[in-house]
Amino acid sequence: METERLNGKKYFTLTYGCQMNESDTERINGQLEEIGYEPAARLEDADIVIMNTCSVRQNAEEKVYGKIGEIKKLKDKNPHMLLGIAGCMAQENKGKLIERMPVIDFVIGPYHIHDLKDIISRENARGGHVVKTERNPHSVSDYSELRAVRKSKIFAWIPIMQGCNKFCTYCIVPYVRGREISRTIDDICKEIKSLAAEGYKEITLLGQNVNSYGLDFRNGTNFADLIRAIDEIDGIERVRYMTSHPRDMTFDMVDAMAASPKVVRHMHLPVQHGSNDMLKRMNRGYTIEHFKELLAYVREKMPDIAVTTDLITGFPGETEEMHQETLNLLKEVRFDSAYTFIYSPRTGTPAARMEDQIDDATKHRRLQELMDTENVISLELNKAMEGKIHEIIVEGPSKQDENIWYGRTSSNKMILFPYKDGIQVGDTVAARVNVGQTWVLKGELV
Ligand code: SAH
Ligand code: SF4
Ligand code: F3S
Repeated sequence: METERLNGKKYFTLTYGCQMNESDTERINGQLEEIGYEPAARLEDADIVIMNTCSVRQNAEEKVYGKIGEIKKLKDKNPHMLLGIAGCMAQENKGKLIERMPVIDFVIGPYHIHDLKDIISRENARGGHVVKTERNPHSVSDYSELRAVRKSKIFAWIPIMQGCNKFCTYCIVPYVRGREISRTIDDICKEIKSLAAEGYKEITLLGQNVNSYGLDFRNGTNFADLIRAIDEIDGIERVRYMTSHPRDMTFDMVDAMAASPKVVRHMHLPVQHGSNDMLKRMNRGYTIEHFKELLAYVREKMPDIAVTTDLITGFPGETEEMHQETLNLLKEVRFDSAYTFIYSPRTGTPAARMEDQIDDATKHRRLQELMDTENVISLELNKAMEGKIHEIIVEGPSKQDENIWYGRTSSNKMILFPYKDGIQVGDTVAARVNVGQTWVLKGELV
């Protein structure tokens, strides 16, 4: 009945923020398709629009507000269009979003993807102003029950846990995503096995801090056990994981990764800052000395590993000397790349209430210095790959030119190559690097 009524109706989802949101969107799409919606090619063709939002920085939120304004104009023309706000801004702002922008029909937090079908099937869905944001400790089991409509047939996101217990003083994530809840190893492996049977080759295990996976079971289960269990699954070639936390990663976990034939030679290990004073004020729970020791072990066990990081600049109280310590760390450690962010105060977090906030001009200048320093290093490391042959899994045509395709190395470096007859998405092939650039490598298949 329901399906018939909806026949021909179309949905469009927009995703902001991290990979966890990308993955949640796949499950949101799964819910919509279960009740008969089909994907719309363009936003303006949609009967329902769902925005899966992020509140990690102010500019992420501003993008969403801007887009809502745009959608309001479309809704004025198409009176049947429904607009739902999902994700972290939904969880953070709840009903206040609708008060501020009444064009929103419903608000649904990350714990309520399973309620979506019910909300939009209601008679009063449009203008009903339903708000579903209560915390639900069982929601992690939804990951196994909710069908995902995956974008790719080769690469898949696998959420292994929800939430974060770390409470870094700048970060909103623990407030919007709640405490850590892990999925069981059996449940995760069941999902991966069925993906392997469908022909998937690469999976990415997702968690805000994968190194604390399983600790909530309080029975000794940890991330190393999960890695070892996934190693047994035939068919999957590569296992990626993100994000790692320097405080919770143990040497045993590094050993499990090094011993695994599937775990990739890439680690995203956010250091956030080069000064111990800053790390303390950020509540990161490690020192630079510990970070370097851990990294040395990682590189000893996996010499070919690429390591990337996140950095925050302009955190309250950051002096010129502390900023210099981050620049020095970059030069000493030589990350393959670094994502650099300007500190953005988030209401309700301890850092937003700290004195000695840094002015915008200083933040921007320091950001530029971090980027300039890192770009030189990234370029040098990529240039050093010139002439070498690497195994890549083909991801498809590049955005700029459909005759130039790309694939990724185990170390997560993107190699662009001229398309060759017969090549398909998901092929594992050898590519020679001809030119190393800051962000990508140019090469050819051999
Ligand atoms: N759980 C991951 C990622 C969290 S969000 C981790 O712990 O690394 C991704 C990145 O956004 C963080 O690593 C941090 O560098 C940045 N970030 C988080 N909150 C921020 C804020 N208030 N201002 C600026 N950058 C922030
Ligand atoms: Fe935020 Fe820190 Fe948790 Fe990462 S570990 S999500 S930065 S609180
Ligand atoms: Fe953003 Fe939420 Fe991810 S705040 S970074 S979408 S967990």
